[in-house]
Amino acid sequence: MAVVEIRRLTAEDVATAVEISTSAGWNQTAADWSALIALNPETSFGIDCEGRLVSTATLVCYGDRLAWVGMVLTRAEFRRQGFARLLLERVLGEAEARGVRTVKLDATEQGAPLYAALGFIAEQPVERWVMPKWVVPGRDDASPRAASARALAPGARVPDALAVELDTLAFGTDRETVLLRLGQSSQTLTAHDGYAMRRDGQRAAYLGPCVARTPQAAKRLIHAALRHNEGPCVWDLLPENANAVRLARKLGFTPERRLVRMFRGEPLRAKEGWIYALAGFELG
Ligand SMILES: CC(C)(COP(=O)(O)OP(=O)(O)OC[C@H]1O[C@@H](n2cnc3c(N)ncnc32)[C@H](O)[C@@H]1OP(=O)(O)O)[C@@H](O)C(=O)NCCC(=O)NCCS
Repeated sequence: MAVVEIRRLTAEDVATAVEISTSAGWNQTAADWSALIALNPETSFGIDCEGRLVSTATLVCYGDRLAWVGMVLTRAEFRRQGFARLLLERVLGEAEARGVRTVKLDATEQGAPLYAALGFIAEQPVERWVMPKWVVPGRDDASPRAASARALAPGARVPDALAVELDTLAFGTDRETVLLRLGQSSQTLTAHDGYAMRRDGQRAAYLGPCVARTPQAAKRLIHAALRHNEGPCVWDLLPENANAVRLARKLGFTPERRLVRMFRGEPLRAKEGWIYALAGFELG
């Protein structure tokens, strides 16, 4: 039996972690991994086997109200040896030690049986929509309202307090720290009635998060967020938000895969009709 060591991930693991997630076909970049590890150094874990990193899992803590499990990955040749289960047990132990009331995650078909065995319950579906190439928006997108969304340069302190307030109402708990970190590597659009972000991805640009009070606001913000995007784009949404589905379809996105959002502990639902794009499967 090979020696197996669970340990915390550090910035030095980013390149290997990207290699593992990319070989699973995932879209996360070095910036995404760096942000996850920097924000959650105590709760980002990996397993070394035969002298190299073979399995990962992260836990993003939104205070003690909610924590989000992500990046549950095992290299293909090391699967079915209990590595993901070990890491899940570890992150759940960390959540319990912090008094976290709810743990959530977005489960792939491969991950769902493990989570169910650990007490996670299905909450709602989650979908990834894709656009092979963004085409320049049509005439109705040139409306004055479309122009009113403010584009902020990457690096500016974004999103602003109003966006964070809307996000908290929609998501159910404050995730300002994560949004500020995403703001460092995203194009961010803010308005009085919502915000949208777009960042680079490994295989396609990532549209999200986007929270908006109305479908009109979402349309305006998402158009603006996609305006200077040339290549393919992915957009993760909650299909129970029919307005988000309608908008994605209208903009030429098509559904690519379905996951299931699962939770463990107290249920937590909020104004999800305002959520037009997720921040990431690993973030909520
Ligand atoms: C899902 C994944 C992380 C599991 O990693 P792993 O280290 O092989 O998982 P474990 O060995 O700890 O298996 C734990 C349990 O998960 C379930 N499981 C694992 N792989 C499975 C598969 N391919 N099909 C069905 N169930 C599976 C089983 O219940 C398993 O227990 P068992 O083998 O005793 O029946 C791995 O298959 C993977 O990296 N997949 C691609 C990325 C992905 O989808 N990640 C999940 C994101 S939510």
